[in-house]
Amino acid sequence: METQIHQTLGTNILPSHYDLLFEPDFKTFTFKGTAYIVVSIKEPTKTIKLHAKELQIKTAELRQRNLSLAGKTHYNPQKEELTLTFPQAVHGQAQIHLQFTGRHNEGMYGFYRSSYQHKGKTEYLLTSQFEAANARAAFPCFDEPAFKATFDVSFIVDRNLFTISNMPIKKEKTLQNNQKQVSFLTSPRMSTYLLYLGIGNFQSIQTKHRHILIRVLTTPEKIHLAPLALGYTKKFLAFFEKYFQVKYPLPKVDIIAIPDFAAGAMENWGAITFREIAVLGDEKTSVAVKQNIAITIAHELAHQWFGNLVTMQWWDDLWLNESFATFMSYKAVNDAFPAWDLPLQYFEDTIADALSADEIEATHPINVHVNTPGEIDEIFDNISYDKGGSVLHMLEDAVGEAAFRQGLTLYLRKHAYQNATKHDLWTAIQEAKQENFVSTMVHGWITQSGYPLVSVKKEKNKYYLSQQRFSLLGKQHSESWIIPLRYFTDQGKAGTTILREKTTSFPSSAHWIKVNHGQPGFYRVTYDAPLLAQLGNALRRKKLSSLDAAGLENDLFSLMVSRQYSLAEYLGFVEQYCLDAEYPLNSSISGHLGWLLRLAAGSTLEDAVRRTSLLFHLEQLKKVGWRRVKNERNTTTLLRSQVISNLGLAGHAETLKKGKELFQQLQHGHGSVDQNLRSTIYLLAARQGDEKMFTYFIQQYQKETLPEESRRLLRAIGMFRQKAFVEKALAFSLSGVRLQDSYMIPIMISLNPGMNTLLWSWTKKHWPQFLKKFTSGTHMLGTFVKTMSSCSEEKMENDIAQFFSLKKNMRDDVKLVVKQVLEHIEINRRFMERN
Ligand code: BES
Ligand code: ZN
Repeated sequence: METQIHQTLGTNILPSHYDLLFEPDFKTFTFKGTAYIVVSIKEPTKTIKLHAKELQIKTAELRQRNLSLAGKTHYNPQKEELTLTFPQAVHGQAQIHLQFTGRHNEGMYGFYRSSYQHKGKTEYLLTSQFEAANARAAFPCFDEPAFKATFDVSFIVDRNLFTISNMPIKKEKTLQNNQKQVSFLTSPRMSTYLLYLGIGNFQSIQTKHRHILIRVLTTPEKIHLAPLALGYTKKFLAFFEKYFQVKYPLPKVDIIAIPDFAAGAMENWGAITFREIAVLGDEKTSVAVKQNIAITIAHELAHQWFGNLVTMQWWDDLWLNESFATFMSYKAVNDAFPAWDLPLQYFEDTIADALSADEIEATHPINVHVNTPGEIDEIFDNISYDKGGSVLHMLEDAVGEAAFRQGLTLYLRKHAYQNATKHDLWTAIQEAKQENFVSTMVHGWITQSGYPLVSVKKEKNKYYLSQQRFSLLGKQHSESWIIPLRYFTDQGKAGTTILREKTTSFPSSAHWIKVNHGQPGFYRVTYDAPLLAQLGNALRRKKLSSLDAAGLENDLFSLMVSRQYSLAEYLGFVEQYCLDAEYPLNSSISGHLGWLLRLAAGSTLEDAVRRTSLLFHLEQLKKVGWRRVKNERNTTTLLRSQVISNLGLAGHAETLKKGKELFQQLQHGHGSVDQNLRSTIYLLAARQGDEKMFTYFIQQYQKETLPEESRRLLRAIGMFRQKAFVEKALAFSLSGVRLQDSYMIPIMISLNPGMNTLLWSWTKKHWPQFLKKFTSGTHMLGTFVKTMSSCSEEKMENDIAQFFSLKKNMRDDVKLVVKQVLEHIEINRRFMERN
């Protein structure tokens, strides 16, 4: 078997139980900790290695029956390894006893602190974020997913504080000095990265699913925004129990909103944490944010089975966690809200996203070897999430929904409370399907970078298909894949086949054929010119489903970026066939035209792109209008903002004028403005804003407490046209914005045409500071590099390359991102040159 049990600590010593006690100090933000770890030692040894990070070890002892040995400690900060050495060798069952102290940092990893305002005062809560490798920053431990153990957690804290861990409270004992000792029930066997520690003035609301207690917890002034999440959680929990045919195994699940949070959410078993914007909302919340809340809750709930109950053996199978959670979240939300069109949105958010992440050379296979925490952190990317999710979607389509689902049930039941690899999953699905091709088919998609481009041509009543890895740079590659392929013809005939070889052919009298019918496959398709024209006509005459139409356009766009079609041909295609496009085609085109307009800004191509963009978006505006109608589809609501923003960015005078009017109405509290359009209106206002308006946005932001409104204001702050305000906005992002949101303004500025050079000099200047502020576990540093992906100048490319060639500027968790950005700039440059 190719996957090893990758344990950097070796397998001689296996932990089976942890007994942990934490005593935090809210004044100094330090904590005292005690850990008893039950281990079993196979071969006699004098040394024991564990992980630890930023901890002071006070005492270390090994106990075994009547024996008690004091240990010497040695710490290797590079490897984050603590070695305990004892005077004599020990084997068999033993207990490691450690006393230590640590700090509640502000960097959003380990056992950290988060601040919020309550009755006008700044207060703190303590919370933890351990994935991937930061449990070791809270207590010395065997910090790898395969070292599963049971946990007893206790806290000594002030009596008035609320405490949370993975399990319900077992008992509370009153202590002196207004303190209490809280102990939680023993957890099931689980990995360290899923442990949770939470202490603070939390408020909660609750409900039940069967006997399972569901709570939503927030800081005191946000509890009115909790009911939405409570309802979603209850629905999705029931869905997953039914879908997996495996009961949720813990007595409770907590949904916890944390004011400072690096990622979007984290699936700690039974104590799931979220950024506020990803969980808090009410009836005024916009459709976009509401959907995101639902998807995020469903995603983390899916992990309670996929990841928590059954865990990957090592991080090289991280995608098993993340792609399943991605894939399952859409299923759960779709089940509860079929009118949201999530299967269509899955194409846009997951499949199309993955196709574009995986068409560059600097991509990586889904299955990738990783060793250091930095390398592990780096693979939480759209390959693990979205390509993984797309391949699962394709697999489900190939084996059928029933066999797929039954395979998952088998897998979850067989490996519950254990670790597993992808092979275990394929075996289970094969068992359900009673066929052998699953692992052979899936193999190529998991282990190879990229995906195929299937070329289709027709000669005399015969169709010829061939495959070749698709590369935006046009590099030649030799990979090939086993492609389960659906097609659809003008005669209304749908069929399937498997493309196993590089080429194949079949006779058919069809005038045209649409390959990847319904877009279940993870590949692109290119057609010879006569076929493409026929497909275009079929599209216009609504003979293609909206997914097929979107797939066609999406592939065409990438083929254009890779210079197999010209810009003029692409724009022509949009104008000729797609003006009254429906979702998801319209949204896809809108995104692409926006991208083109940014890239072309200031060049000779700008006018042509703007012309098509105005034509297309005005045509769409006719359909969606400025006003939301009752019961309209979410996808229409979302599109409206996209269309109007694009018109504004393309400088459409009437749209800008209307935007300004609506903004004034908002400012003066007149009329009723659709919450869904608020962000767009701010953007239109900012595009025409002056100093007064800039100051207004800043002041509003400083006062605002609603997470969604804060985000809207922050976005607007980055969208002014004047360089002076862009500079001010960047300065503000460092001084006036929470660390968790500090990339928001830079991201907006990267979407603000003509500001790239300014943004890059600012990034360089503050880089040393960023390296310190955004530790590797927060996944945030890469976002600052990514903002450069839409540049196209050679000068910029060289400067970025030169900057990161200096060792002091480079770090493990951004290595790949830097390569990707450089490649994007090269692709953009060549694209501009060709056109
Ligand atoms: N397990 C991740 C959270 C995480 C990400 C921990 C990176 C450590 C490093 C969680 O399940 C997740 O995927 N969260 C997503 C949200 C989701 C809806 C895609 C996130 O944070 O973006
Ligand atoms: Zn996840």
